[in-house]
Amino acid sequence: MIRSVITGCGSYLPSRIMKNADFEGMIDTNDEWIAQRTGIRERRIAAEGETTADLGEKAARAAMAAAGVTVDDLDMIILATSTPNNTFPATAVEIQNRLGMHHGAAFDSQAVCSGFIFALTTADQYIRTGFAKRILVIGAETFSRILDWTDRTTCVLFGDGAGAVIIEAMEGRGDSSDRGILTAHLRSDGAHKDKLYVDGGPSTTGTVGHLRMEGREVFRHAVGMITDVIEAAYAATGLTSADLDWFVPHQANRRIIDASAKKLDIAPEKVVVTVDRHGNTSAASIPLALCEAVADGRIKTGDLVMLEAMGGGFTWGSILLRW
Ligand code: ACO
Repeated sequence: MIRSVITGCGSYLPSRIMKNADFEGMIDTNDEWIAQRTGIRERRIAAEGETTADLGEKAARAAMAAAGVTVDDLDMIILATSTPNNTFPATAVEIQNRLGMHHGAAFDSQAVCSGFIFALTTADQYIRTGFAKRILVIGAETFSRILDWTDRTTCVLFGDGAGAVIIEAMEGRGDSSDRGILTAHLRSDGAHKDKLYVDGGPSTTGTVGHLRMEGREVFRHAVGMITDVIEAAYAATGLTSADLDWFVPHQANRRIIDASAKKLDIAPEKVVVTVDRHGNTSAASIPLALCEAVADGRIKTGDLVMLEAMGGGFTWGSILLRW
């Protein structure tokens, strides 16, 4: 059975750090409120002129170096983003061109904060059907560009960054001892589309728009939706929370992460947390967290890793993989 194995990952964060205290004076908020309600202490903000393609390219180069591959080895690039450089072409082709890749296919995938889960699941399908052998999957965002910096209920929550992985086809036995993606589960329900959205777009206002969110409503649905797709992964594989080595959730809010882990009986020491330093980087948050835990030696070959996300749409999903 063909499995999609992650053979390298890399990430990139803009150099400018914005701390909670930096909002004081701009909006009516304070470090204590933000830290207590969200767990966020600081986030990175892209420099003027630094784009999603810039962040994504740097993460992609790092992932390719980690995997020991060049563009000649790649069949495809999938970029998860909700903050593309332009309405079109896809920012993935911009990155493809910068990497000097002129073969294969590159396209963007858009599922907001679940974007990386959707993009990696899509890549897994191409690999398992034999359509592609090696794919670069990137999550890159510059959410700072779509925030309303006068709205204290949203602008304190998000940050910029990028993470990327190389996945490639490897032969497995077909059981849960295989390396690679063991199971993936995607969901969406547009009935919730107005709870988290951007109030502009090419076909409506002709503008880019700003992020709008009913935070309490998102929070109310988050834990149930996350639990739903993680339990689906357990049902598909026969594995349980006790088998997990690492839980790498989308990093939106520390309270959502802790409540999900508690409900699913995942021990706190197995949870990878970056939200305190990155804020919510949407489609970039999972590969950023994953790469950090790989780089510092926590995640090792053979470890069982659960990825999950929930975001605008709503969209939500999980991927259970063996590193
Ligand atoms: N500083 C100070 N006070 C604030 C701030 C702020 N930054 N933001 C809101 N408040 C105030 C509100 O105005 C409200 O005041 P009021 O009672 O006078 O009206 C009070 O704090 C409480 O507001 P709530 O919204 O009830 O606060 P809550 O505890 O729910 O926390 C939060 C808000 C952090 C947004 C939370 O609801 C949350 O994390 N929701 C989920 C958000 C999320 O995960 N979004 C990302 C999803 S992924 C994606 O697709 C992008």
